[in-house]
Amino acid sequence: MKDVIIACDFGTAQQALAFLDKFENCPRKPFVKIGMELFYGAGPEIVRTIKARGHKIFLDLKLHDIPNTVRKTMKVLSGLDIDMTNVHAAGTIEMMKAALEGLTREDGTRPLLIAVTQLTSTSEERMQKDLLINATIGETIAHYAANAKEAGLDGVVCSPLEASLIKETCGKEFMAVTPGIRFADAASDDQVRITTPARAREIGSDFIVVGRPITAAEDPVAAYNRCIEEFCK
Ligand code: C5P
Repeated sequence: MKDVIIACDFGTAQQALAFLDKFENCPRKPFVKIGMELFYGAGPEIVRTIKARGHKIFLDLKLHDIPNTVRKTMKVLSGLDIDMTNVHAAGTIEMMKAALEGLTREDGTRPLLIAVTQLTSTSEERMQKDLLINATIGETIAHYAANAKEAGLDGVVCSPLEASLIKETCGKEFMAVTPGIRFADAASDDQVRITTPARAREIGSDFIVVGRPITAAEDPVAAYNRCIEEFCK
């Protein structure tokens, strides 16, 4: 079940497809994350195109709206034949339940649905001051993850360093999907709470989301294989 998801953070379909061309002869088709930049830039067609090439897709649009709008939007996204998508847990349990309903196809199948708890760019200080949440960031993340579980979701996106907290709170079957991955011998870029693919496996991540260490590598296929080697083996 463990897998490496490549964050395909490109602004145009041409750039994304040219990047994925490099993996044509790779025996393992990478799981690909399409985020807001690529989705809003290239439109839903990019999802169909990448899917048709045989990749699994995590559509990272982080929905957060009234339950009715989220339900109807998820129905549209489910029709794109994606494999995983997400919402903000801050939208409430009712909104997460509506998302799940919208995603579930008539035959009962659905993509995996995970929740964002607190963005890793939000510090405890900003959460308390800007959002007026009077708790520690750990308490907030654990509470939002428990809400996601209660709503029936499959897991959360979190920092790898929070994966064990999530598993303690929600059980080991509840998925931790973790960005913030860097090789031991590489730069951290703008990520602060980072870890290596090997350490993410030890801590209990189910999926790692890796962007620049693969997309900006001199040899992206070798970097991807290194992630697989460290994380999945
Ligand atoms: O290039 P890098 O490996 O830092 O990319 C990480 C990916 O994970 C990006 O697409 C980023 O938007 C996403 N992400 C993140 N932290 C979160 C949620 C998503 O880095 N909390």
